[in-house]
Amino acid sequence: MCRILSKYTPVFLFLALSGLIFLLRNIHNVENWNCHTYSTLYQLQSRIQSSFIPVNLPTFHHNRTFCAHLGQKPSAEDELEEHYLLDSIVWPGPPPHSAPTSLRQTSDPVHSLFTILPTNEGREWHVGEELEALVQMHDFHGRPKRYGGDFLLARLHSPELGAGVAGKVVDHRNGFYSALFPLLWAGPAQVEITMVHSSEAVAVLQRLREERPDRVFFKSLYRLGFLSETTVCNMCLPPDPQPLCNYTDLYTGEPWFCYKPKVLSCDTRVNHAKGGYKKHLITNKEAMLFQSDVNVKVPIHASGADGVIVLPQKDKDAEESSGSIKPDLILAATSGYYYENSWRPLDAVTMADFNKSSNISQCLKDKVIHMYGDSTVRQWFEYLISAVPGLKEFNLHSPKNVGPFMAVDITQNILLKYRCHGPPIRFTTVMSSQLRYISNELDRLPGSPNTVVVLSIWSHFSTFPVEVYIRRLRHIRRAVVRLKERAPGTLVVIRSANLQALDQEVSLYNSDWFSLQLDTVLRAMFKGLDVLLVDAWQMSLAHHLPHALHPPPVIVKNMIDVLLSYICPEMQTNQMFS
Ligand SMILES: *[C@@H]1O[C@H](CO)[C@@H](O)[C@H](O)[C@H]1NC(C)=O
Ligand SMILES: *[C@@H]1O[C@H](CO)[C@@H](O)[C@H](O)[C@H]1NC(C)=O
Ligand SMILES: *[C@@H]1O[C@H](CO)[C@@H](O)[C@H](O)[C@H]1NC(C)=O
Ligand SMILES: *[C@@H]1O[C@H](CO)[C@@H](O)[C@H](O)[C@H]1NC(C)=O
Repeated sequence: MCRILSKYTPVFLFLALSGLIFLLRNIHNVENWNCHTYSTLYQLQSRIQSSFIPVNLPTFHHNRTFCAHLGQKPSAEDELEEHYLLDSIVWPGPPPHSAPTSLRQTSDPVHSLFTILPTNEGREWHVGEELEALVQMHDFHGRPKRYGGDFLLARLHSPELGAGVAGKVVDHRNGFYSALFPLLWAGPAQVEITMVHSSEAVAVLQRLREERPDRVFFKSLYRLGFLSETTVCNMCLPPDPQPLCNYTDLYTGEPWFCYKPKVLSCDTRVNHAKGGYKKHLITNKEAMLFQSDVNVKVPIHASGADGVIVLPQKDKDAEESSGSIKPDLILAATSGYYYENSWRPLDAVTMADFNKSSNISQCLKDKVIHMYGDSTVRQWFEYLISAVPGLKEFNLHSPKNVGPFMAVDITQNILLKYRCHGPPIRFTTVMSSQLRYISNELDRLPGSPNTVVVLSIWSHFSTFPVEVYIRRLRHIRRAVVRLKERAPGTLVVIRSANLQALDQEVSLYNSDWFSLQLDTVLRAMFKGLDVLLVDAWQMSLAHHLPHALHPPPVIVKNMIDVLLSYICPEMQTNQMFS
């Protein structure tokens, strides 16, 4: 080891010296070298940088309207819609006058219980009916909770049958919750209830969302000749202590700002990247609300049986005459379920058999597929190029995991493209020239019956007030409507948010609670439009594999099968519901 070191000493010395010279040169050029200014050794130093950027970052306006109301003023109609959407996602919290003062008074999944209703013996369950489980929350003392707002997930499943379906949770706002499930298969069905966060924890997340949109920050490199500087960027930055570069998009009015470099001008911006995650966002006491294995994604147990045996569907006529058919609200809220580990959609679309790569390329023949969004749709791009041997990725020399990416199948005349959405995007390094807003990209598509647009926008918005997301979707929706008007045959598919693995750290920036709120808004905003949804939320909730930001390949396969069923309805096998 020593010999190797001494052998390379001259090289190290040379490197260190040249680095120093480089540094000095920049310090000389740049007065008041500080946290916003870095040397040309940018690439080498990025690890050092991210450790010292946050220390000197200006504190943010603790003012939600500041971030939410940048950019173009929404029309009266848009404001009305915004109010409606925000009202629709209001989350009940602990009552202000009797908010708990200690952890022991907050929701404890271990002391909480659920019961399948009705509790009397001898009840028979049939396919087509609804199952209800009543959850009662308790605190760490074992005392019943008297208010709602806990974030619970519910799933009905059968490992033997490879079956699973998402449940709907209704908050009675008194410590009780109903988990409702459609019964879709005959055989065993087990209830699984998970407390993702206590209501007290959700209140902390809500406060972070409104007050700390700076908790994930971004950076940009500026370069001219030998000189380079890096500054902090975000959707909303306090205009002091330093002047800003204003990168507000001229077409959409989407705001984006960076601190102006000390020396270089705003138009020397080269790239955009994730800066880092701010620490110390919560007090030690609040941190107690986010303990893995204690109160983050912990199962709630059954007080009695945790499952039922479902019998085949009752004779339809007998059922109708007895008047026992309920208006199927639960079924309407369910997009599909797993059976034999394959997703079966409940809407009009039935799943085609896309097990063979030849079936996929047959479906995509003559199509141009544009994927826009975050890494969860980039996963789809990756899945398709690995599943279809004829689809070859064209080397655009794009940065890994960032794109843009393109794949072609010359014989089948298939073109597949992926591009990330505009800022806020927490990718490693996106060239400034490649930062595009989806709505602007859509406005440049001619569209046709051979064009498929796939959108996925959610994860990178979790640190901002919901108004920011509403504004982004409004721009995209307008562009989708314009695209559909000029090219009615164009297929537009939206991939919803999905669940992910949570610990304390991830919760504060990316909790499923943020995703759920955004997802509710997404569905509402595209409702009634000629746009199809791949319900990644329910597909990740209903599956037995652990939640992951990037779902495992078996779930992605099922999502792609839904997508392909939308693209090629003529390839339906009609085997499921005949
Ligand atoms: C929040 O910010 C807006 C816009 O900068 C400002 O008009 C308003 O007075 C601020 N509100 C508070 C409570 O600071
Ligand atoms: C940024 O630029 C946009 C568009 O030119 C303008 O409307 C907005 O007022 C500017 N914002 C700031 C803070 O300078
Ligand atoms: C597709 O493949 C899966 C896994 O290999 C298998 O379980 C399923 O039955 C296949 N589907 C059809 C329709 O062949
Ligand atoms: C899928 O491909 C196989 C073999 O290539 C073919 O026999 C089958 O008909 C295809 N399925 C559909 C739905 O087109």
